[in-house]
Amino acid sequence: MNRSFFSATCHLLPATLLIVVASAISSRAQNPPAAPITNAPGIPGWAYPVAPAVPGPKDDGSILHVPNSTVGMTLTQARNASDAPDWHPDEHPAMPDIVRHGRIADGVRACGYCHYPNGLGRPENASIAGLPIDFSALKLKPWIKVVESKTAPRTEILGGMLVPLADHSTEPLGDRIIEVPVDAHLTEGLRDDQSPFVAYVPVGSIVKGEALVMTGGQVSVMDTGV
Ligand code: HEC
Repeated sequence: MNRSFFSATCHLLPATLLIVVASAISSRAQNPPAAPITNAPGIPGWAYPVAPAVPGPKDDGSILHVPNSTVGMTLTQARNASDAPDWHPDEHPAMPDIVRHGRIADGVRACGYCHYPNGLGRPENASIAGLPIDFSALKLKPWIKVVESKTAPRTEILGGMLVPLADHSTEPLGDRIIEVPVDAHLTEGLRDDQSPFVAYVPVGSIVKGEALVMTGGQVSVMDTGV
């Protein structure tokens, strides 16, 4: 067990695989990015890359308009993530302060900037209008711990997933990824939605994944003829 990291969502492995495959496919046409990829602390940037800012059009001070609105604003105002542009203020209830302004000092942009003041969102985010408050208050917690290991617990199938045998015995992991609940009783018996999982992966997987994403590695999906 050399290295591990916690994923912030429950979809780390599929997401990473997708990125790995996409990267392998496109690696012939593109050079690896020159600048280091950064991300939030603890979240590997190579797995969840953040695109560099693309310079947009310049604000020449003109007052801009959109259809069905009497509101006018400059380009800067229309693109202000700390004061969500509100073209149709009569068509939604007043925005709570965090929706309108965010909490920029804490790194939180205005929710209404991305999800729109009416909460309906766009294809790249989501509609959050009408979601119950409890859902909106959900906090992402570390969910799957990725552990590099030569061995994994021996398992049996319970409730459609692998769970460790009660005798805590282990077996060689080989090339497999074995994901098990940390506490099968809590996860399967009681369906505790806060009881996390461990994914055992071959030693070196994280570094290999990083190299493959960053450089295309020595092989690509195209090269294998798949
Ligand atoms: C910079 C853009 C941006 C801002 C600002 C933003 N979000 Fe989001 N939000 C997203 C994206 C993108 C997703 C979709 C993430 C995904 O599906 O992986 C999302 C998803 C969500 C979801 C999940 C919706 C669903 O149906 O699963 C909720 C709830 C949510 N955001 C609430 C908020 C709140 C509350 C704020 C303000 C505190 C906020 N967002 C600010 C971009 C943003």
